[in-house]
Amino acid sequence: PVLVVDFGAQYAQLIARRVREASVYSEIVPHTATVADMLAKDPAAIILSGGPSSVYAEGAPFVDPALFEAGVPVLGICYGFQAMAKALGGTVAQTGNREYGGTPVDVVAGGTVLAGSPEQQTVWMSHGDSVHEAPQGFDVLATSAGSPVAAFENRERRLFGVQWHPEVKHSPLGQRTLEHFLYEGAGLAADWNPGNVIADQVARIRAQVGDARVICGLSGGVDSSVAAALVQKAVGDQLTCVFVDHGLLRTGEAEQVEQDFVASTGVNLVVVDAREQFLTALAGHTDPETKRKIIGREFIRVFEDAARGIVEAAGEHGEEVKFLVQGTLYPDVVESGGGEGAANIKSHHNVGGLPDDLQFELVEPLRALFKDEVRAVGLELGVPEAIVWRQPFPGPGLGIRIIGEVTQERLDVLRAADVIAREELTRAGLDREIWQCPVVLLADVRSVGVQGDGRTYGHPVVLRPVSSEDAMTADWTRLPYDVLATISTRITNEVPEVNRVVLDVTSKPPGTIEWE
Ligand code: XMP
Repeated sequence: PVLVVDFGAQYAQLIARRVREASVYSEIVPHTATVADMLAKDPAAIILSGGPSSVYAEGAPFVDPALFEAGVPVLGICYGFQAMAKALGGTVAQTGNREYGGTPVDVVAGGTVLAGSPEQQTVWMSHGDSVHEAPQGFDVLATSAGSPVAAFENRERRLFGVQWHPEVKHSPLGQRTLEHFLYEGAGLAADWNPGNVIADQVARIRAQVGDARVICGLSGGVDSSVAAALVQKAVGDQLTCVFVDHGLLRTGEAEQVEQDFVASTGVNLVVVDAREQFLTALAGHTDPETKRKIIGREFIRVFEDAARGIVEAAGEHGEEVKFLVQGTLYPDVVESGGGEGAANIKSHHNVGGLPDDLQFELVEPLRALFKDEVRAVGLELGVPEAIVWRQPFPGPGLGIRIIGEVTQERLDVLRAADVIAREELTRAGLDREIWQCPVVLLADVRSVGVQGDGRTYGHPVVLRPVSSEDAMTADWTRLPYDVLATISTRITNEVPEVNRVVLDVTSKPPGTIEWE
């Protein structure tokens, strides 16, 4: 792999993704990894990421000069560039001339990483210290007002560095810089693709599972679906999937799982119709946290019962159900320390505290993948597009989009309004531009309206379109007025209980994406 050494800022994951976008496999390692740790992974190249420190700050992460003697191609970025300059005998100093944001750099020599660059390019900078002198034997490739040495390389030793962040989209030629490093600088081939990922994972799953039986909880979302499809491809009928229909899904979603997913992947599916059970448990409750807890608790109960049933049925045939599939993704692995095993899974990704008589080993075929790669793998496996491109949808579903008590009638109203909003956003080609657009029913609020000849006294629904990278922060999406108008007109015409459509124009923070 290409190792991305994480110096503790937000950038390592982005760099790893960009490397994979260049069809080269990458992995993130913490900066505390020793040179020996890194070499043990047999790296094809190493990228030192940016970080928040000054190389002179006390306790600043350090780069062992031995790294540059190992014959492995290295690219230093921002902090990594400065740490590299210092370790190799160049000079790094505080100039008092901070550069932050889009910054023009003069390219004085293209070298390897800036080959074909215009004489001036705009790049994204974020630094206080600067490299003043390149280490001996290095060519200076670029300079800027605040960085006497803004990029350098030693072609022979295959060591390269840039002061700026080529991984961010605000450096328009940044991806080209990374690709020059990977292909020309390090001589790597662009051979990481969904087909290879599938072949590799299928082999690993077979090796892990042998001829034991496996179960998987399907939610209708992309992660669990693609994980299940991969395991199905690897071990076929040894896999049984469980889909809990809690009645809180949107129009068409249960059918997508029960029919389209089964038809396209051939998985064994057990559908548990728990709609009544959830409604009964939720009756009379209005507090958001209580509702979430009830839904979580019921879900675990139902899933456990189904799992126990499958375990017992297999036992009658002398078989053992030993494995549980989880759709854990690479960002979860990195954020929880990168270690192996169940302890590192975020709680809401975990099926929950399974009782002692139900102990499974985990199969996590997506552990090395980013979300966009999961989608590519899903498409390659023939998972329906509606599932592959589904926007994030919370586990508690519509239960937390009805403000007030959840009832069958209210679910029907919200589903009718929601499907109209989704249809119109799809028609306008906006599905992949917005992160998600919850539709929220203010079930305890009524307002007066007029429709036809009469006065109405109906409920408002809220449209909550948001743009986001990771759901940690979000902005409200500026949807075109004509799309909003169509959604509003259709909902108020077609859903008799709703006489008002309002738009949520709050960013996150302070508003969360969901209303409960
Ligand atoms: P908030 O409302 O916290 O949502 O801004 C952030 C993202 O998380 C989703 N979400 C959930 N996903 N289980 C989930 O799997 C949950 O309980 C849950 N609550 C919120 C939400 O849709 C948004 O994408």
